[in-house]
Amino acid sequence: MGQEGAMRGIDEGDTTPQIHEGDVPPASAPPAGGSRDAAALHVPVLLEECLDMLAPAISHPGAVLVDATLGMGGHSEGALRRFPDLHVVGIDRDPQAIALASTRLAPFGQRFRAVTTTYDHIDQVATEYGHDAQVDGVLMDLGVSSLQLDDLERGFSYSHDAPLDMRMDPSSGTSAAELLATADERELTRILRTYGEERFAQRIARLIVSERAAVPLTRTSQLADLVRRAIPAPARRTGGNPSKRTFQALRVAVNDELRILEVALPRALTHVRVGGRVVVEAYQSLEDRIVKAVFREGSRDMTPPGLPVLPGESDAPLRLLTRGAGRADEEEVARNPRSASVRLRGVEIVHPWRNRS
Ligand SMILES: C[S@@+](CC[C@H](N)C(=O)[O-])C[C@H]1O[C@@H](n2cnc3c(N)ncnc32)[C@H](O)[C@@H]1O
Repeated sequence: MGQEGAMRGIDEGDTTPQIHEGDVPPASAPPAGGSRDAAALHVPVLLEECLDMLAPAISHPGAVLVDATLGMGGHSEGALRRFPDLHVVGIDRDPQAIALASTRLAPFGQRFRAVTTTYDHIDQVATEYGHDAQVDGVLMDLGVSSLQLDDLERGFSYSHDAPLDMRMDPSSGTSAAELLATADERELTRILRTYGEERFAQRIARLIVSERAAVPLTRTSQLADLVRRAIPAPARRTGGNPSKRTFQALRVAVNDELRILEVALPRALTHVRVGGRVVVEAYQSLEDRIVKAVFREGSRDMTPPGLPVLPGESDAPLRLLTRGAGRADEEEVARNPRSASVRLRGVEIVHPWRNRS
């Protein structure tokens, strides 16, 4: 499979057959040219910890892992190297990430496939690339990549002037500038409060609405300046850059991140075989809360005390692999500052998943 094949996505009518054997480099094969660029752009967070957790599910010949957040392919490369019989299907909504990761992972031949889509389409991916629509493992490393944050023209960063875009897939959806131009004060307040946990959400929203009437907000520097003016001076002096929460909130809203995660998790759990594993890394409390709630609910035994039930009917479908959430230690944070806020959670599927709410 060449790079072109690797980049074809389900949305583009990919009818290629299931993953084939062949053309497989040895596990220790060094990646080919171009791959170092991707590797240098993003250091995977808690790589070995994620792979250790997935290992019992993905070590056997023909095992299929879905890397639902391919990014620069760091986790995928680690998995392909460590498990020589593993196939990886990488999902990303960002065509630039897909292109870079596909170049990086091309030496793994047919063992790697990339699909350009949002990860709530994991059901289609599992149907296409799994065995009887079931895969052995799913890895999700949520949020934005260093590539996206560092590409100044994409508007994710409040510390560099750029167009206010923030779309992970720049070819679809509404940009941050469009959202700021059209949402009313109430909606903007909700977005900033809910997704940014911003105390001064209403003040910022009000200023956006009053100022956009005169000058459209199209640049990150304009928004950063507005936020600074909206927040009272004493509050500006505490808690880091005052724009951080507003930019996070807009990014979450523009990319519909939380709703997609809520839809995707149960779908992922449905399409992982019994004995398979799902591992998630979250970097903000809103995402982690969703992951924690789904995993906790799925691991609860629903047998009503004292009542007869059919065997298996109310058994918990999930077994938690982490007590609380895994965190990066000081050494990892020093090596990779992005890991400071990570919360790592994992589950094993012990009975077929059924929605329980
Ligand atoms: C933190 S990065 C992943 C980095 C990757 N694990 C690595 O080691 O290179 C997250 C990636 O997920 C992608 N992403 C975020 N939300 C997504 C969604 N709903 N569907 C598909 N991809 C998504 C982003 O575009 C980004 O490339």
